[in-house]
Amino acid sequence: MTSVAVVTGASSGIGAATARRLAAEGFHVLAAARRTDRLSALVAEIEAAGGTATAVACDVTSDESVAGLAEAAARAPGPVTLLVNNAGGARGLDPVESGSVGDWQWMYDVNVLGTLRVTQALLPALEASGAGTIVIVSSTAGFTVYEGGGGYTAAKHAQTAVAGTLRLELCGRPVRVIEIDPGMVKTDEFGLVRFGGDAEKAAAVYAGVAEPLVAEDVADCVAWCATRPQHVNVDRLVVRPLAQAAQHKVHRAG
Ligand SMILES: NC(=O)c1ccc[n+]([C@@H]2O[C@H](COP(=O)([O-])OP(=O)(O)OC[C@H]3O[C@@H](n4cnc5c(N)ncnc54)[C@H](OP(=O)(O)O)[C@@H]3O)[C@@H](O)[C@H]2O)c1
Repeated sequence: MTSVAVVTGASSGIGAATARRLAAEGFHVLAAARRTDRLSALVAEIEAAGGTATAVACDVTSDESVAGLAEAAARAPGPVTLLVNNAGGARGLDPVESGSVGDWQWMYDVNVLGTLRVTQALLPALEASGAGTIVIVSSTAGFTVYEGGGGYTAAKHAQTAVAGTLRLELCGRPVRVIEIDPGMVKTDEFGLVRFGGDAEKAAAVYAGVAEPLVAEDVADCVAWCATRPQHVNVDRLVVRPLAQAAQHKVHRAG
């Protein structure tokens, strides 16, 4: 029977690339996000490439919407063996001194509570499959702080804490927990969301960096971790572009 993978935040960037990649690996993918037009286009693309997928409208900040995702998973054509908690993002690059409480609340709700809601809703199905995997896409911001990143690093530290706690709590049960921590990934929307649609500021993040990671690189990491034999648990995978030795150490040409 086909295994089912649920990917949140599948309408763009890392989530969309992960959905494509997992479908190519043979999973039936439930592609979840708020923008259903994009999800429909993604499903059509996956089907044209010979895979199968279903678009599911889901706002991870809503209990009701996440309950709908769990219902869609129950109707899926196979056991749910993989959940990729990818929905998330950053808002603002302000110092703690002047950061917007609203932005901080949004980052906590989407990155941390979104992961919590979706994980709680799908854990019974993952466990019932007998061989479940939960991937949490956190960030290098989950273990390093940087100036202006207070709200995002606080949320990602919390998401990382959820991953570590969950792994301890599920020990002895048939569900592994894998944390993927990407560094700089050039996706179309992450920077735009962070800078309120300011394309110039978003582009400046990658200025002079010859080869930042792209969404497909992270999808490759997710797919590799998720397709190891079930007894192999990659606790945490940190991945950065060659040009980024650390958060503060990026090689830029010119
Ligand atoms: N890009 C990077 O440099 C980088 C580095 C490390 C970690 N990450 C992490 O990787 C993940 C994906 O980032 P990305 O670069 O691919 O960003 P992105 O292109 O902005 O994608 C974010 C995704 O999250 C979804 N999303 C946002 N709010 C949501 C909500 N309330 N409910 C459901 N889905 C929601 C968006 O879909 P809708 O708007 O359609 O709902 C979108 O599909 C995030 O968790 C991010 O923090 C990114």
